[in-house]
Amino acid sequence: MGKKKDRKTLENVSESEMPAIQAILQELYLKYQPLSEGKLASYIPELAKANPDWFGICIATVDGQIYEVGNSDQLFTIQSISKVFVYGMALEEHGREALLTKVGVEPTGDPFDSIIRLDDYSKRPENPMVNAGAIATTSLIKGNNPTDRLNYLLDMFRHYTGHDMFIDMSVFVSERTTGHRNRAMAHLMRHFGMIDEKIDDALDLYFQQCSVMVNCHDLAVMAATLANRGVNPCTGKRAVAACYIRDILSVMYTCGMYNFAGEWAYKVGLPAKSGVSGGIIAIVPNQLGIAVFSPPLDSRGNSVRGIKVCEDLSRRFELHMFDSPTACEHPSDRLSPHPQHLDT
Ligand code: DON
Repeated sequence: MGKKKDRKTLENVSESEMPAIQAILQELYLKYQPLSEGKLASYIPELAKANPDWFGICIATVDGQIYEVGNSDQLFTIQSISKVFVYGMALEEHGREALLTKVGVEPTGDPFDSIIRLDDYSKRPENPMVNAGAIATTSLIKGNNPTDRLNYLLDMFRHYTGHDMFIDMSVFVSERTTGHRNRAMAHLMRHFGMIDEKIDDALDLYFQQCSVMVNCHDLAVMAATLANRGVNPCTGKRAVAACYIRDILSVMYTCGMYNFAGEWAYKVGLPAKSGVSGGIIAIVPNQLGIAVFSPPLDSRGNSVRGIKVCEDLSRRFELHMFDSPTACEHPSDRLSPHPQHLDT
């Protein structure tokens, strides 16, 4: 994203203005904490044990500054946000063209766990952000045995967060014993030759990657690593090759919010990814990573408070990828450049 000289962005705030950003996060926290919309994910029974009041917001900049409010150190399972990082790993291992033969890059407009397109159209999962595509992506992670592959994956996450990573075993087991829909997709993909015969290994690794524990602070640093062209801004170490940032951010932009991706792109205008435990990350390339954690979800599986906070931050700091410094002519669009609500 090009720098816009005539306005204040989160990137060009000085040290003395830091408390102002902190104050804005605090304001957003207080504004949205009372929201009671949304439901906890319950199709993975362990996730239904979350506290609906948990709410954290964290911003990490590419020069390593961190701003956080609320429950930003509350641990939870990363769920679908993991798909972004495993996709990066698969790109590094197989390259863009080979990976494209197994997983597409087309948004579906369908729910994240839909099986319809897989059977109806290409036989190849549409993109790596929906479950089918993520399972296919995970099945491609190399290693001599399941332990190797899991350690390799945890190591990849460690580079993004800067510390050792662990799995929440109860969520993993809960997901493993109830994930019949994911199993059905994996078998269908096996039928189409999109994954190999080690279906249970691929599913176990997929359930494990979804059960990796993070907090909101970790997610912001992971997002900032993507914003920083693959280098963790807190450790200075590379987590993913710079040449694949373009690929990762493109699929996040078009597919990261599932059947809300179009409205998200229109209103927030940033590459993003959500997960059913209530996390959302958004990336402002070359500037910062945003993470919000709040478990109650809307009907598409996206965090209700997370969407509100990102919409506000995007409007307030003009973070939309296609924001123009020119004011809108229409009076009703001057104060609020993006509609508050779209009919869906
Ligand atoms: O495959 C599943 O059901 C979960 N482990 C991940 C789903 C998820 O987070 C979808 N995101 N909104």
